[in-house]
Amino acid sequence: MAFKKIMAGMGVCSLGLASSAVFSAEFNMRLSHGDNENNPTNYAAVKFEELVEKYSDGRIDVTIYPSNQLGDEQEVAQSMRMGTIESAIVYTGNLVPLAPSAGVLMLPYAFTSSEQAWAAMDALQEPLNERITSEAGVRAVGLLEKGFRVLTTAEEPVRTLDDLEGQKIRVSPNNIAIETFKAWGIDPIPMAWAEVFSALQQGVIDGQENPYTTAISSNFYEVQDYITEIHYMMWTGLLLVSERFYQRLPEALQNAVDRAGREAADYERELSAKLTKEAKNELVDLGMELLGPPEDEAKWQEKAKAIWPDFYADIGGKEWALEAQRIMDEAIKNK
Ligand code: MLT
Repeated sequence: MAFKKIMAGMGVCSLGLASSAVFSAEFNMRLSHGDNENNPTNYAAVKFEELVEKYSDGRIDVTIYPSNQLGDEQEVAQSMRMGTIESAIVYTGNLVPLAPSAGVLMLPYAFTSSEQAWAAMDALQEPLNERITSEAGVRAVGLLEKGFRVLTTAEEPVRTLDDLEGQKIRVSPNNIAIETFKAWGIDPIPMAWAEVFSALQQGVIDGQENPYTTAISSNFYEVQDYITEIHYMMWTGLLLVSERFYQRLPEALQNAVDRAGREAADYERELSAKLTKEAKNELVDLGMELLGPPEDEAKWQEKAKAIWPDFYADIGGKEWALEAQRIMDEAIKNK
């Protein structure tokens, strides 16, 4: 196992001299993701690896490739459709261009707490899977959550909507994020996740939005000064398996993968909540200033919520958007 991890860390795909344990499995499953090894995404991946290997009695062997080693999240999602990569954890915003229906998890200000997002995701998993399997050839075996995406900036703090003016903010390349920032008065810069740290470092962009834990794992505190808790969207992500790969598995192994996915997601959600609290303190110690929510948060909400209907075409059509909202509202009404 340790040997495999070293291979993944080195970006090596296969070697002729691996231990027999590596080759005793009937199925090999590469699991790609875009975060560093101290991010909750990777902890979910490690848990999934452990559980898949356990529940499949070693018949499936999982190897994790963190930090975009197999390609950017959107490239990897494309490869899963072809079945050339077996699994990945992908931020919903990076999947939406391929699987629009997943965008219902991204409607701005849809959730006010992690508990709401968990209930909504659990209720939505089955109908969502039907849609993304046909849209992108992938199925979600676990739905992950890492807390709110918060806005980090360098030099200029963002305390009000007016403070956004003139800031070059990177967003994930999807229309929901792009149009939301436009509603707030600026043209954001869509950019692949793999390029964000160097773009911040070189001043190509002034800021970005991602969860607190990512500000730690991606070392954003080295190049960013302020954090505004804009609360507009949770980081939700999908633990995906290529449908082509999944259909090659015997039923018992499909069940093992499904069970491992659900349990890895439960584990990650709880862990993320804990790590988010710790990250806030750590970021202050590392010199960042946490500004809390914008002073005029109601204005941000009003502008972003007003454009929900404009998103319907980008998230699988009005009928699905309204049906998904109904399912989610029902699930979160007591949370
Ligand atoms: C992004 O901003 O592209 C994602 O949130 C990165 C990630 O997957 O953690």
